[in-house]
Amino acid sequence: MKVLGFESSCDETGVALVEVPAPGQGGVPRLLAQALHSQIAMHQAYGGVVPELASRDHIRRVLPLTREVLQAANLSLDEVDLIAYTQGPGLAGALLVGAGVAVSLAAALDKPTLGIHHLEGHLLSPFLSADAPEFPFVALLVSGGHTQLMRVDEVGQYEILGETIDDAAGEAFDKSAKLLGLPYPGGPHLSRLAEQGDAAAFELPRPLLHSGKPDFSFAGLKTAVLTQVKKLGESPSEQQRADLAAATQAAIVEVLVKKSLLALKETGLKRLVVAGGVGANRRLREQLNQACAKRGVRVHYPELSLCTDNGAMIAMAAALRVQRGLAQVQPPGGGFSVRP
Ligand code: KG4
Ligand code: ZN
Repeated sequence: MKVLGFESSCDETGVALVEVPAPGQGGVPRLLAQALHSQIAMHQAYGGVVPELASRDHIRRVLPLTREVLQAANLSLDEVDLIAYTQGPGLAGALLVGAGVAVSLAAALDKPTLGIHHLEGHLLSPFLSADAPEFPFVALLVSGGHTQLMRVDEVGQYEILGETIDDAAGEAFDKSAKLLGLPYPGGPHLSRLAEQGDAAAFELPRPLLHSGKPDFSFAGLKTAVLTQVKKLGESPSEQQRADLAAATQAAIVEVLVKKSLLALKETGLKRLVVAGGVGANRRLREQLNQACAKRGVRVHYPELSLCTDNGAMIAMAAALRVQRGLAQVQPPGGGFSVRP
């Protein structure tokens, strides 16, 4: 069985094809081909994602990317068995493009469709790598819009252990980066600048670090960064900016590591999956690897290129659901919904 997946929740148009092993064959579904277009360059001039521009660009890109994927996999649309799309959360207009294309194609081809939760896509993205995790595991989901710790017993069996009460970790990276005059999306830029800096040069808060619960709060950190930026005045030195970037990154990473360890301890599990854009952060990976190695915990990450939004994770999540008989597919011509 072959699943075609569409992702269009924010500023990446992603399309991918995943093949599900035949019943009784076991194994993990396999990525056949994927194509991705990032809108980052287009939104950069505005310092963030402009929803209307995002929707329009998804419209422009989605069909050429679909053709590219089918060509790379050497398949025709007739050979696709199920069409999956990101149902939400995300930008309403952007979601409607992927969902609309998926459902229209499905109606024309007489194929069923399946809406996928964007975060489930991120959560299951490590299954796209050769070293897929075994269940159960603790998942640290760190994206631009979400920060959650979850207990994952199987596909579809998710228990939220803790989450952010205000900003997401990616938001903390992006907002602090903006204060430091870095381009959107700030996370990777801040992380690069931090490499030249000394994290000890600034003292920044680590909200809820000692709450004893796997919950997060990053809004106070952003305010503290703003205070420091104001103190530095109009023209801070390159070193001061790098130091502040390093201190910001250190504060975010310390909280993420400590809370992940807490969730692992609470559940007694020995496997951690890190997913979402912030999972690409080098410092976070280093610190998690170190802390988990000491405790005999195995850490799984998606491939770097699959940490941020992509179509492969949506096709994979759909495939894993289908493989387990969990997919509530819509018949051809059936309705669809997006949940912004
Ligand atoms: O998962 P994602 O692509 O989109 C959402 O679903 O939100 O995550 C995007 C977030 C952005 O906040 C971006 O700045 C952050 O991931 N990010 C990073 C890095 N790469 C992406 N943050 C820190 N370090 C990175 N290397
Ligand atoms: Zn995402």
